Parts: sequence; C-alpha cells; structure tokens
Amino acid sequence: MNQNNDKQKYFLQTFGCQMNERDSETMAGLLEGMGYEPVANAEDADIIILNTCTVRETAENKVWGRIGELKVLKSKKPDLIIGICGCMAQQKETAEKIRRKAPHIELIFGTHNIHELPEMINRLVAERKPLLNVWNAEGSIVENLPARRKSKVKAFVSIMFGCNNFCTYCIVPYVRGRERSRQIADIVREVKSLAEQGYKEVTLLGQNVNSYGKDLPEKTDFADLLEVLNEIDGIRRIRYMTSHPRDFTSKLIDVIARSEKVCEHFHLPVQSGSNSILKKMNRGYTREYYFELVAEIRSKIPHASITTDIIVGFPGETRQDFENTMDLLDKVRYDSAFTFVYNKRSGTPAASMTDQVPDEEKSKRIVELIEFQNKISLEKNLCEVGREHEVLAEGMKNNQNKVEARTRTNKLVLLNGDSNMIGNMYRVKIVKAGPWHLDGEILSSGKN
Ligand code: SAH
Ligand code: SF4
Ligand code: F3S
Repeated sequence: MNQNNDKQKYFLQTFGCQMNERDSETMAGLLEGMGYEPVANAEDADIIILNTCTVRETAENKVWGRIGELKVLKSKKPDLIIGICGCMAQQKETAEKIRRKAPHIELIFGTHNIHELPEMINRLVAERKPLLNVWNAEGSIVENLPARRKSKVKAFVSIMFGCNNFCTYCIVPYVRGRERSRQIADIVREVKSLAEQGYKEVTLLGQNVNSYGKDLPEKTDFADLLEVLNEIDGIRRIRYMTSHPRDFTSKLIDVIARSEKVCEHFHLPVQSGSNSILKKMNRGYTREYYFELVAEIRSKIPHASITTDIIVGFPGETRQDFENTMDLLDKVRYDSAFTFVYNKRSGTPAASMTDQVPDEEKSKRIVELIEFQNKISLEKNLCEVGREHEVLAEGMKNNQNKVEARTRTNKLVLLNGDSNMIGNMYRVKIVKAGPWHLDGEILSSGKN
C-alpha cells in the first residue's frame, strides 16, 4: 500500500441530516486539498471535526457526550486540533458555552463559513490560539468547493440552502439562514460531472425543495429543474428531500409522473393530523388539503410509496388531536414514518407556548403511534411479496454476506451476493417481507 505516514490525518464525525452529511463531504474535500488524509479512528487523527445537529435535545446530548470523551484524547495529544461546527455551533449561546465549558475545543465555526476551513486551520496552527468564527448571517453561495463523497454510487447534491418556513417548533431556519437557490447551470454541471464519475443516483437536497428557484432572477421552479436533470445521461435515479406538502403543485406531480428517472417515492412530512395543531405549527395546510394531495399522487402514480415525519406532544395537543393524527395514519397508510416527541428549542415560538404536554403523556402517545405505524409498514411490505422491482445495489450489510439494494420506491431489499454487485441495477422478485426491509431474489441484471 502506498501510504505516506508523514501525512496529517483527519477524522470527521457527522450528526444530523443529509445537509450536514453533504457539508461534511465538502469539508473532507477541503481537508484532502490541504494534504490531510482520512483515518477510521479518532485516536489516530491530528484533526477531529464534529459537524453537529441541534434539531432536538437528544442530538445535542450526543455531541456533548463526544466533547467529553475527546477531552481525554486531547490531554494525551496536546497538538491535536478539535473543531466543532454545524447547527449547534451556529447558535451564539451554544458556541459560547462550548468555549467556556470545553477549552480543549480550539476551533468553533458555524454553518455559513465551512468554505473558510483551510484558512481557519492555517491560522490556528500558526497562532495556536482558540478560534471562534461563527458568521451571524448567511453569505452568498460558494460554488466549486471540492468534495470527498462517501458513496461511489449515489450522491447528495444541494440545490438550495436555508429555510423560510419558520414552523413554530423548528430551529432550522435560525441555524441555516434564509432560502438561497443554486443556479440551474451550477447544479447541472455538478450532476453531469457525477454521471461522468459513474454515479447512478442523485438526491437533491434542500429543507424545502419545492421552494427552489423562488429567489432566482429567472422564472423557474423545482419541476423545471427535475425536467432538466432527467435528461442527463448516465444518471439512472433522481430523488429529492424534503418537500413541504403546502408547496407540492399539480405541475410537480405531473413532471415526476412523466420523468423516467425521478423515483416514485414521496416523503411528505405531515407533522400532525389535527387542523388546530397544524395551524399552531404554522404549516400552512389542513388535513383535508393533505388528503387531496395524497389522492392526486396516488391517482397519477399508483405505485408510489409515501413516507412522512410526525411530531407528537406539540404544545396544546389534546388526546383528540392525537387521535386525529392516528386517524390520518390509518387513512393515508404510509410506507414508513419518522416519529418524534416534540422537544422545546429555545428561541422558537413553540418553546414559549404555555400549554406544554407533560413528558409522561408524550411518551405514551409516541409508543402508541410507533406501534400503529409499524403494523401498517409491515402490512404494506407484505403486499410487496411476489412483486418485481428494479433495484440499485448500494452497499454491503455490515458483517453479513448480504447486499443492500433499494427499489425506486426507496424500500430496502437484501440480496445474496458480494461487493462486486455494488453500483449495478437488478431486476428482483420480493420473496419475504419484514417491517424494515424486504428479501429479494435476482431475476436478471438490468442495463448498467
Ligand atoms: N425540512 C425538513 C426537515 C426538518 S427536520 C422538513 O420540513 O420536513 C426533520 C424533522 O424533525 C421534522 O420534519 C420534524 O418532524 C422534526 N422536528 C423538527 N423540530 C422538532 C422539534 N422541536 N421537536 C421534535 N421534532 C422536531
Ligand atoms: Fe423546519 Fe419547517 Fe423549515 Fe422543515 S420547513 S426545516 S420543519 S422550519
Ligand atoms: Fe440538524 Fe441542522 Fe440538519 S439542526 S437536522 S443538522 S439542518
């Protein structure tokens, strides 16, 4: 192996959502541009960066735990640089708290200036003085940053940054700034280059991809972007996340229906099935509107899968409101759902609402909800047995001779095989189903 052991090593740990994953890929690219190489264990690194999430307290607690562990490492290796960035660090009070409580963290920066990473590291190495560099507001989009992507098969492509929706429970708009869309030409260039590198799938990222283009000078929208990307040779699948149900237009459904590469999977976070709670959440739609949207999707794309995010225990949620959410689940019959207990985020409007639901009640409701959804997920998956699907082999299941593949509807299918299959498409028949995955048998390999 041609390994230069004099090279400085980096270790990057990512918490939170796909936007953070994508930011970490950029940071990895920047670090490798500086001559750093990746290592699998934090213990072997010369620089460790934690890219953090603050969407719920549990996410933050994980980071605080890690900060504590790293203190020991720093005391053994005084030259080690430990940096914290991302959504937690973007909040002024939290950044200050990290500086106060964890002096072994010498580099703190936010979500808006990751492109400055090389300068920040050089400054830190030269001056050996802790550096806190959190921008108050977003700057303009920086294009052409390098990236070291995790997968060779599927890639995340950011199409916009920030969020203007201010759902009353959510911290994201405060830590990611206002909506900014990338130019179509820049996105097309990136996706073409991914196709040339052999990528088969792209997932377009934004907090609300349906707002794409609203801030651009030309008149364009997300549906137009999908149509353009659908024409790029080599890319076989296009996914996107996340869509706000309020902004999901008929035009967009029509474009998805006729765009061969855009997958038939709709992640439509509903959050609650109660109109009064939806109003207090500032979601901008009613359950009746949501049912119509689901009906339109199902009539135009009958085999589409639909998934969602749900919050239980939002302030003021009564037993009846919760029952309305259960009823919505029963009517929509999601393929799967991410379920969350409402968690107060300081600075958001919901945090100061007076009618907070007691923890005990929230826990009871989430258990009920998860149980119900698991039953539906299993029933939906059982319907898949005997059906045929085209799947993309994406990776190996840990410690097992199983290949992880996905249907266009985003269901996980396990196949017998080895790592040579990764990156190929197969036609499979589903032979068994559980609540979380399907087992498949290969019928033939698709065009690769
Ligand atoms: N932009 C995306 C995702 C935002 S965060 C969207 O709008 O769907 C992912 C999910 O976390 C949200 O959909 C919501 O269900 C959940 N979430 C956000 N803030 C929360 C909070 N304070 N407590 C509990 N769950 C929360
Ligand atoms: Fe948060 Fe709402 Fe924006 Fe999603 S749309 S990131 S839930 S404020
Ligand atoms: Fe977390 Fe920030 Fe994403 S708060 S969910 S990492 S945008």
